[in-house]
Amino acid sequence: MKISIIGAGNVGAISAMRIAQCGLGDVVLVDIAKGLAKGKALDLEDARSILKINYNVQGSDDINAIRDSDIVVITAGLARKPGMTREELLAKNSQILKEVCLSIKSLAANSVVIMVTNPLDLMTYLALKVTGFSKNKVLGMGISLDASRFANLISEELNLQPADIDAVVIGAHGEGMLPLAKHTKIKGVSLEKFLNKEKIASLVDKTVGRGAEIVAFLGSGSAFFAPSAAVTEVVKAVAKDEKKILGVCAYLSGEYGIKDTCIGVPCRLGKTGIENIIELDLSEEEKEKFLHSADSIRNLLRQLPVG
Ligand code: NAI
Ligand code: 2OP
Repeated sequence: MKISIIGAGNVGAISAMRIAQCGLGDVVLVDIAKGLAKGKALDLEDARSILKINYNVQGSDDINAIRDSDIVVITAGLARKPGMTREELLAKNSQILKEVCLSIKSLAANSVVIMVTNPLDLMTYLALKVTGFSKNKVLGMGISLDASRFANLISEELNLQPADIDAVVIGAHGEGMLPLAKHTKIKGVSLEKFLNKEKIASLVDKTVGRGAEIVAFLGSGSAFFAPSAAVTEVVKAVAKDEKKILGVCAYLSGEYGIKDTCIGVPCRLGKTGIENIIELDLSEEEKEKFLHSADSIRNLLRQLPVG
């Protein structure tokens, strides 16, 4: 299994480390910055003797290194600066990604593409259109990270283990995300049975603001430890053909009443990428918010360099 990661910055390099250490495949790290990916790959391999794990990480500044990859993860581009929204990254990152996706199309035509670069939902759509790959083979990691953040905040509030909390978030990976209390379960029991509406609303707000909170503390760049864990979880589901249900950004063609838009929904993942899109039972209020989230993505689609 050849797993390429384009972009050897914070998210890309730590994803490479996690993916290699989990034994998911041979990792290729590529970055436009001369020597960066090669240096990080050598450093990662130098840890093998201490860790007693045998893995391979190759680093290059030549995009040809991704040739014949089974999975390509895209973390190339700019990250948010304090006060900057993910959408403001649109113009810069779509130019970078158009080129990257044309390379994937010609060098790794059979790969499953996992988008990470922001604005996530728009970049996933761009990758789908530029590669021309089938819709199951292009997906985005975003709402599984948001769900992990929601679960973490719930665990702190209730003094429970994060692993016991199965949090569900749908919608855009951005201000329009929708943490769903009814579908979030603690050992099978809905979150609504544990907390009142006000408390849930405050945890939802904290979840929506978590990325920006971290950006503000860091002062430069955005989160990368939890994002790389979320990337690894999605890569593992595909590489190991796990048939696992995870929230990912998927192309909708009628599901949830939405067409021609990439947005976060629960999907069953396996070796062909998205094998099924799961349609959750939403309340009228949730449906309205979800459609609004989709509209906010769709309104920006025309700014993408596709067609
Ligand atoms: P970073 O700045 O540390 O790394 C980005 C890397 O991309 C840099 O090393 C840069 O040289 C490289 N790059 C730029 N153009 C390239 C090209 N044409 N080919 C190859 N490499 C190229 O940024 P970081 O923190 O790793 O974030 C990367 C992206 O992921 C950002 O857009 C960020 O907003 C996004 N992100 C998304 C998350 C999600 O949940 N979807 C979570 C965290 C970050
Ligand atoms: C995050 O949510 C920047 O999308 C990234 O932290």
